Amino acid sequence: MVQTLTVLGLESSCDDTAAAVVRQSDGARAQILSSVVHGQTELHSAFGGVVPEIAARAHAEKLDICVAQALDSAGLALRDMDAIAVTAGPGLIGGVMSGVMCAKGLSAATGLPLIGVNHLAGHALTPRLTDGIAFPYLMLLVSGGHCQYLIAHGPERFTRLGGTIDDAPGEAFDKTARLLGLPQPGGPAVEAEARSGDPKRFRFPRPLLDRPGCDLSFSGLKTALMRMRDQIVAEKGGLTRQDRADLCAGFQQAVVDTLAEKTRRAIGLYLEENPSDPVIAVAGGVAANTAIRSALETVSAEMGARFTAPPLALCTDNAAMIAYAGIERFRTGARDGLDLTARPRWPLDQTSPAMLGSGKKGAKA
Ligand code: KG4
Ligand code: ZN
Repeated sequence: MVQTLTVLGLESSCDDTAAAVVRQSDGARAQILSSVVHGQTELHSAFGGVVPEIAARAHAEKLDICVAQALDSAGLALRDMDAIAVTAGPGLIGGVMSGVMCAKGLSAATGLPLIGVNHLAGHALTPRLTDGIAFPYLMLLVSGGHCQYLIAHGPERFTRLGGTIDDAPGEAFDKTARLLGLPQPGGPAVEAEARSGDPKRFRFPRPLLDRPGCDLSFSGLKTALMRMRDQIVAEKGGLTRQDRADLCAGFQQAVVDTLAEKTRRAIGLYLEENPSDPVIAVAGGVAANTAIRSALETVSAEMGARFTAPPLALCTDNAAMIAYAGIERFRTGARDGLDLTARPRWPLDQTSPAMLGSGKKGAKA
C-alpha cells in the first residue's frame, strides 16, 4: 500500500531557527512543500562566535513564527500533518531544548506522533531527499560544526570512517578570518582573498597525512597561520593586502590537499565493502568552497565514484532535512513520547569511539 506522509520538521540546534513541511509517497521522491530558515548571524556577530544563551532565547522566540510561516507557505494546517519531527541533538543544548519543547507542545496539543531526529542524520540523509540516492553511499559532512566520513547503510545505520579530532574545517576558516581581520562567516571571505594569493609562499602543514586512516585535524593550521602573521607583523610592522591574500591562499590549499587525500582514502575504504556504483555525497557550508568542491570532484572521478552535492540551501542547516529524516524514521516504525530528551552529544555511529573536541557550534559527536 502506498502511504503518503506529510511531516513538519523543526531545527534549532545551532544558530538557525527553521521549520519545514516535507511530503513523500512511499517509493516516490520527497517534495519540500516549504522551508523557512531564520538565521541569527547578526545577533552573534559582535561576539565572534555563537553565544549559546542568546541562541537559545532567539530560538524560543522564533520557533512558533517559523512553524506558522512553514505551514502557511505549504498551504496546510497542523491537522494535515502525519507527524512532527524535531532535532533532538547533537548541538547547543539550550537551542535543542527549545525545539524539543516546541515540538512536544505541538504534539501534545494535536495528538500527532513526535519523532526525535539526529541533526547529523538530517545532513547525512539529504542526498536521498534531493537526489533519491539509494543506500549505501559515502557521505562527507564538512561544516562549521561537523567534519566526518560516514557510510550510510540505512536511515539509522551509519558507520563512521573518520572525522576531525579537533576543529571542523568551517571553524578553521572562521578563525583564520578573525586572525586576519576579515568578516564572519570566514569561509567566503577567506576564499575571496585566496583568489588573488600565492598558495606556495607560506608553508602550511598537511595535518595527519602521515598517519593512516581518515581522521583529520585543522587546529594546527590556525596556529601556523597565527605564527606566520605575527612574524610578518614583527618584521614589517603590519600586513599588506598581498600578505593577507597569500596567507589565505596557503591556508586554503592546505585544507584542500588534506580533504582531497583523506577523501581518497575514505573512498578506498568504502570501495572495499561496496564496490558497485559508488556514490560520494557532501553536505555542510564548507562544500560551498569552489576549490574544495573541485578537488573532491577530481578525487571522486579518479576513484570511479559519482560525486553529488545538494543545493547549498540544503547543505547548510535547515528543517527540510529534519522533516525528511523524520519521514525515514517514521517508516521504520520509530515514534518518540513526551519523554523525548534533548541530547548535546549523539554520535551517529554508536559503535565508534567519541570524537574529541566540541567546536564553536557544539559537540561534534
Ligand atoms: O553548514 P553550515 O551553514 O553551519 C554549520 O556549521 O552547521 O556551515 C557554516 C560554515 C562556516 O564556518 C562558514 O565559514 C563555512 O561553513 N563556509 C565556508 C564557505 N562558505 C561557508 N567555508 C569555506 N569556503 C566557503 N566558501
Ligand atoms: Zn548542521
